[in-house]
Amino acid sequence: MAKSKEVIFMAKDLTKQQETDENHGTQVLEEGVHHVNNPVLDLPEIVKNYLGPVAGYHQENNNYYFSDGSASVEIKVVSDEIIRVRLAPKGLFLEDFSYAVPQSDQHVAVYNFEEDQLAYRVKTNTVTCVINKADFLVSFEDREGKAYNKDYAPMHWEENPDFGGYYVYCTKLAMASEAFYGLGDKPTHLNIRGRRFVNWNSDTYSFQFHQDPLYRSIPFYIGLHEGDAYGIFFDNTFKTYFDFAAEAQDQTSFWSEGGELQYYYIHGPHMMDVVKRYHTLTGTHYLPPLWALGFHQCRWSYYPESKVKDLAKNFRERKIPCDAIYLDIDYMDGYRCFTWNKRYFPDPKKMIKELADDGFHTVVIIDPGIKVDENYWVFREGKKNRYFCRRGDDYFMEGYVWPGRCQFPDFTNAEVREWWGGLFKGLVEAGVAGVWNDMNEPAVFGRGTFPNDVRHNFDGFRGSHRKAHNVYGMQMVRATYEGLKKLFQKKRPFTITRAAYAGTQRYASVWTGDNVATWEHLRLGALQLQRLSTSGMPFCGTDIGGFSGEPDAELFTRWIQFGVFSPFMRAHSAGDTAEREPWSFGETHEALNRKFIELRYKLLPYIYSVFWEHAKYGFPILRPITMVEQLLEGNIQREEEFCFGDKILVSPVLNPGQPNKMVYLPVGEWYDYWEDRLLEGGKEHKVDTPIDKMPMFIKAGTVLPEYPVMQYVNEKKIDSLKLVVYHTLREVNSYLYEDHGDTFAYEQQIYLEKKFVVKGAPDRLSIHQHVEGLYSEKYDTYDVYLAALPFKIGQVKVDDTLVSAEPDATGRYLVKVSKDFRSIQIVGQ
Ligand code: GLC
Repeated sequence: MAKSKEVIFMAKDLTKQQETDENHGTQVLEEGVHHVNNPVLDLPEIVKNYLGPVAGYHQENNNYYFSDGSASVEIKVVSDEIIRVRLAPKGLFLEDFSYAVPQSDQHVAVYNFEEDQLAYRVKTNTVTCVINKADFLVSFEDREGKAYNKDYAPMHWEENPDFGGYYVYCTKLAMASEAFYGLGDKPTHLNIRGRRFVNWNSDTYSFQFHQDPLYRSIPFYIGLHEGDAYGIFFDNTFKTYFDFAAEAQDQTSFWSEGGELQYYYIHGPHMMDVVKRYHTLTGTHYLPPLWALGFHQCRWSYYPESKVKDLAKNFRERKIPCDAIYLDIDYMDGYRCFTWNKRYFPDPKKMIKELADDGFHTVVIIDPGIKVDENYWVFREGKKNRYFCRRGDDYFMEGYVWPGRCQFPDFTNAEVREWWGGLFKGLVEAGVAGVWNDMNEPAVFGRGTFPNDVRHNFDGFRGSHRKAHNVYGMQMVRATYEGLKKLFQKKRPFTITRAAYAGTQRYASVWTGDNVATWEHLRLGALQLQRLSTSGMPFCGTDIGGFSGEPDAELFTRWIQFGVFSPFMRAHSAGDTAEREPWSFGETHEALNRKFIELRYKLLPYIYSVFWEHAKYGFPILRPITMVEQLLEGNIQREEEFCFGDKILVSPVLNPGQPNKMVYLPVGEWYDYWEDRLLEGGKEHKVDTPIDKMPMFIKAGTVLPEYPVMQYVNEKKIDSLKLVVYHTLREVNSYLYEDHGDTFAYEQQIYLEKKFVVKGAPDRLSIHQHVEGLYSEKYDTYDVYLAALPFKIGQVKVDDTLVSAEPDATGRYLVKVSKDFRSIQIVGQ
């Protein structure tokens, strides 16, 4: 934070100075005596300024401007549920540009404006933004006048004499029992009340519980009070700070070292809707290729080629499913991006083709540091075209990373992004299917990151590294994604990034960085992935097993189990650890690891449908219990169980030697996945947790699609799709999404969205199917398994025809039906 500076003026020898210096600089007039020749004696001290009473307002379309006579506040109606607030300390707003929000105008149905003696009110169909005349406090209410969020103090700012601009501050009232969620990858408890955070993307090898900041900056949080939720997205790329009732119990503040005080108020009252609406601003993750939802195997590093082939062979021979193999930095020639170490990989194209023939996708790492080497084409091109970042005084930004001395492309320049995207041509021609962007905080050995004076293009809006730091990684992976998308033409690329800013989900998945092989880190991972999901970064995973350190067999297996329900499932380990693959811990654990990786593959059609619900509708993928049942205050403390999509609840085992655990199930009926046992929700259950099980529950009434176990996506043609139907006493909808799996044809409606409506009673069950879309599935029938029927089957009718139902060994009944069925009616004896 800024310190108010004492201003000392010397007005000695004034006339003489004025004669000699018209530039008002400091002059040395006599040896050893410095005179400041500006005679101002009443320069105001630098202090925090607060908005004064509102002096007037005017309107321009859906923007309302309020002024206290010198500062201005803009209130913009973005949609019925979203209102943006901006502050211009001297009345002049910055140009409206955001990397997070490509388009801040949404469909606004109706809004109007009211004024009375005390306040102005900007009203939409759902939200009222109240601006108090006397003190300029801004608050947000619902239509019934319930205040969701209120200023504690008027917005304020303080001039920044070193860099220009202002430190900008907003202090809100923290209500007594209010809980707070979100803020990206913070490695701490889900409810962040009582804590203070800073957003500054940082390379944090072996980070610890509560460490802050880490790799990503997502300045978005959700407040939950008396069961009602709202969100605040502080769209500011500078170093930002958040204090959730830590300094003062009744205040929540956010502030920044520069830029504009600009935030979006996002109305709920459902937490899920807050996240969905946040996604309408910042975008969703595109639908990943189906293979990217399979199991990924990574290590620093697999080389040479024989090692990679051996790895692939082991997976196939041991029958452990796997879709992706990663090449970490050692595949390159001296860590030069876009090159190959020909000694290790003499013919990459041939190797990648052979891997692909065996069902493996090859993902390669690409870092931002470009080796300073006149014999290296990427460096020469970047240098010639002035694509590398420069310091304040025009020197190149140089620093050490893996390749040695490097320069760094300015990814905030559209032309540089275009160039960077094209650099992938060779890798794509070699057959690479995905790219992993790392070290893009940006990380620089020895000094952490770039110094503040480095200049950036910022897409024509110019800025120092203070402004561009937090978006550097995002713009790098954007360039990577857009380049790959062009080069692949019709195929969906897979991209993953370590650093991110809000909105990065439009371009990439993320992993939580360099974690550690400890039980505490497994727990941290569960917290971080839930948090990332609620913060708009849905496609996220941890390094399964822990990056540094050595997991034992039990920890690795428990981490694989958690990995099945991590949106992104990748095992990764540091170079100085023992080799670590699913078979590295002896036969018993190899079988256990196989069983759970197989489970991931069985669940793929469900997982893919959950990703579709995210991509199209903005639903988060992982949902903490509080999000599922936000009205119950007791849920605020629940951190271990979470839902994957709408239908599956899991509670990973996070302690060694744990024989059982208490699992809370939300109100309703649930089935223990392992034994089709009905459990009543709304309370905790003691669940056995032998090493071959992790607590996993299916919501009653679910239609759960399952693939047969495959060694990789599309290994086998599916003749009949398995649907497991769980009995219910209510009416429950389930969705199944299907398409080509790896093209963009879905953007032209070439997909199927199937809705199954299940209705049940103690002696019957019906399933109706509704299909929309233009894709044709490759199979003709469904194998419908009726699970946990509380009655003996008397009759099964599919559309108008009676059919038979065969019991299997597990007590489920199998009915084979056409994929075009409209209804199935099951009646008890
Ligand atoms: C960083 C990454 C890690 C990677 C290593 C070498 O530490 O976080 O995943 O393996 O660099 O590239």
